[in-house]
Amino acid sequence: MRVGVLTGGGDCPGLNAVIRGIVRKGVQEYGFEFTGYRDGWRGPLEGDVVPLDIPAVRGILPRGGTILGSSRTNPLKVEGGVERVRRTLAEQDVDALIVIGGEDTLGVAATLHDEHGVKVVGVPKTIDNDLDATDYTFGFDTAVNIATEAIDRLHTTAESHMRVLVVEVMGRHAGWIALHSGLAGGANVILIPEQRFDLDQVCAWVESRFKIRYAPIVVVAEGAMPKDGDMVLKDGTLDSFGHVRLSGIGEWLANQIEKRTGKEARTTVLGHVQRGGTPSAFDRWLATRFGLHAIEAVRDGDFGKMVSLRGTDVVRVPIADATARIKTVDPRLYEEVGVFFG
Ligand code: F6P
Repeated sequence: MRVGVLTGGGDCPGLNAVIRGIVRKGVQEYGFEFTGYRDGWRGPLEGDVVPLDIPAVRGILPRGGTILGSSRTNPLKVEGGVERVRRTLAEQDVDALIVIGGEDTLGVAATLHDEHGVKVVGVPKTIDNDLDATDYTFGFDTAVNIATEAIDRLHTTAESHMRVLVVEVMGRHAGWIALHSGLAGGANVILIPEQRFDLDQVCAWVESRFKIRYAPIVVVAEGAMPKDGDMVLKDGTLDSFGHVRLSGIGEWLANQIEKRTGKEARTTVLGHVQRGGTPSAFDRWLATRFGLHAIEAVRDGDFGKMVSLRGTDVVRVPIADATARIKTVDPRLYEEVGVFFG
């Protein structure tokens, strides 16, 4: 059997660990051969391949990024895209495809399987941890660790200068990174996309910190918005996927805090630092297990499924379940951490 593998969407620490798990088990236990597709769905669309065998996956476990490359190409949005993908797979004798990706990439996999009979197995991936039907995605733990370390470092410089430091973390639709890193780093305010924030309330929390001679740290997810969000949205632009790109909620917030409280404020935007570099031990563990289970699903002929973490078990769920809705932060979890604000 020949198995194709691709990684799509934003990259994420742990992708190489998945690929390594797939190839090692596939070759050593099942005698499968592999074709790597370059740059997500662009690979099968254009027939662009990468050699994928045991030597190719040697030494990649601790490496960030993906040896296959990634892109946000969506064959469903390309004229004749589905036919081109099917033709490539047939011409290259690829019997099944393992698709490692987030909502968009897996959405394509679900359509190809459900409507066109392509044999696919999905592996969920996003640092945002906002994919439904799995308890965790790999990459998230690494991102949280990076953000937590940044917050720890910002505490000391904030206190030396008695400034407000605003830290903007990733999370367009869900505040998981903000919530976990903010709690782990002892932030005084955590703002997430799921709940519009009250600027007066944020300023009151900031001032209450100064009253006891501490410099506050505000963690804000990139998709968070104030109650009167229109003033921020005015400056936002739509990206090619129709997502609103706010032009720097962190910067906007620091300006507002400075204006309203008279305290000096600075912003740190962590950006793609959260997606780069070596994966944490947890992410290597999870990604490797996802890879091993994905190739097992191929061996079993269990297509249209995605591997998923439920508690400590890796199970299989329909790919469509993962893409049906985004997993957002439960309001009860957010309320729970509110006790530390101020
Ligand atoms: O979905 C993962 C993610 O890292 C988001 O947190 C972020 O908004 C987005 O990707 C950034 O995308 P790009 O790398 O295309 O700028």
